Amino acid sequence: MKLWGGRFEKTTDALVEDFHSSISFDQRLYKQDIQGSIAHARMLGQVGVISSAEAKQIIDGLQDILKDIQTGKVEFEVGAEDIHMNIEKLLTERIGVVGKKVHTGRSRNDQVALDLRLFLRAEIDKTKDLMAKLINTFLDLAQEHRETWMPGYTHLQKAQPITFSHHLLAYVQMFLRDMGRLNDTRKRLNFSPLGSGAMAGTTFPLDREAVAQELGFDGVTLNSLDGVSDRDFAIEFLSSVSIGMMHLSRLCEELVLWSSGEFQFVNMDDGYSTGSSIMPQKKNPDVAELVRGKTGRVYGDLIALLTMMKGLPLAYNKDMQEDKEQVFDAIDTIQKSLLVVEPMLRTMKVNREVMAKGAKGGFTNATDLADYLAKKNVPFREAHEIVGRLVLYCTKKGCGLEDLKLEEFQEFSEVFSEDLFERIGIEYCVRERKLTGGPAPETVLRAIELSKQELKRV
Ligand code: ARG
Repeated sequence: MKLWGGRFEKTTDALVEDFHSSISFDQRLYKQDIQGSIAHARMLGQVGVISSAEAKQIIDGLQDILKDIQTGKVEFEVGAEDIHMNIEKLLTERIGVVGKKVHTGRSRNDQVALDLRLFLRAEIDKTKDLMAKLINTFLDLAQEHRETWMPGYTHLQKAQPITFSHHLLAYVQMFLRDMGRLNDTRKRLNFSPLGSGAMAGTTFPLDREAVAQELGFDGVTLNSLDGVSDRDFAIEFLSSVSIGMMHLSRLCEELVLWSSGEFQFVNMDDGYSTGSSIMPQKKNPDVAELVRGKTGRVYGDLIALLTMMKGLPLAYNKDMQEDKEQVFDAIDTIQKSLLVVEPMLRTMKVNREVMAKGAKGGFTNATDLADYLAKKNVPFREAHEIVGRLVLYCTKKGCGLEDLKLEEFQEFSEVFSEDLFERIGIEYCVRERKLTGGPAPETVLRAIELSKQELKRV
């Protein structure tokens, strides 16, 4: 017998039973569902919609069910459709007719909206903790590599020298913003929809605020239609984690590149690499590749939810049951990715010498040579032209700018003098870039400190 069976003369077709049931995945919400029902029942008792003895029976019954689910003693039924009706059915089986009062003044529509908000709120906190751990690892590495010189790139062509520390701190900024976005999502999510009913509220004198307070919300939602049909919080969450995955993916792409034989900037630890079934010599950065690959599925989750919502008339529609699998998949994907990337990063070996060597070649000091002339009052565009011709000269000669003699420099401009050699040394080029946000080791030290403070705030 269905909980909603009164107006039906025939049973549900077996195919439909299987098709519309969500218990296989929404059982993941059991804790939040019970937590919400307990708060609702307590409030029903307080306002006198049910007696306090009845409220107590319901709450005790729900607590027993919670324990039994946690110890694996409960088997859910596909016939009971979803987690909400499975638990209500169990409650009535256990405590009798009083159990049938728990759903007074409530609908599964506001119930599921509540469950998902509670669930996401906890997962946002977990995701943030994992991000904070990753950021701390970045900061430790940054501290260690303040004088590990490396080439910076644009268009994946060598551009200017930086330090490995500075490069790592770019990711710290990204993940700090991701944490900020999760905070924003949490703030807007943290309102209780309970009391919205099916879509038009209820005539029962419910105390919505008391329920909201018991469940740790900052307040209640202010429109019953919106209360049951809003999934912005889930979409915001998926947007935030999509951006987070994009950042992880860019990092992983760099790790794949850097661990290649051509770069050799880093060696991934054996524990985070895998081999080939045919090529005995291979050590592949599969973990990094997989994180890069999994980014696509999180984007897919976001697009699926946006698309599912875009045509829905107010208020609740069954389409919305499709929100959960996307949300669960995105949570699992980002959390597992964060979990594995952190130790992968921490254990990798950084080849300082190779990086430093890379920082030197490829005319990474050409801008500094142009700046040298500009500082001696040569208009920058002319300085650029002069150094461009010098680079061409060196390319033909097969050497670097620093290998030329002063007389050769002077053939291109008489402004050049002996002091130029100091100015185009890689270390000098980095150390002089002291502006806020720059790569100079002393600036980076301050950036590490500021990032640590920011991490405490987000
Ligand atoms: N399992 C449903 C969902 O996840 C719960 C709400 C069902 N409401 C309804 N009126 N059929 O969306």
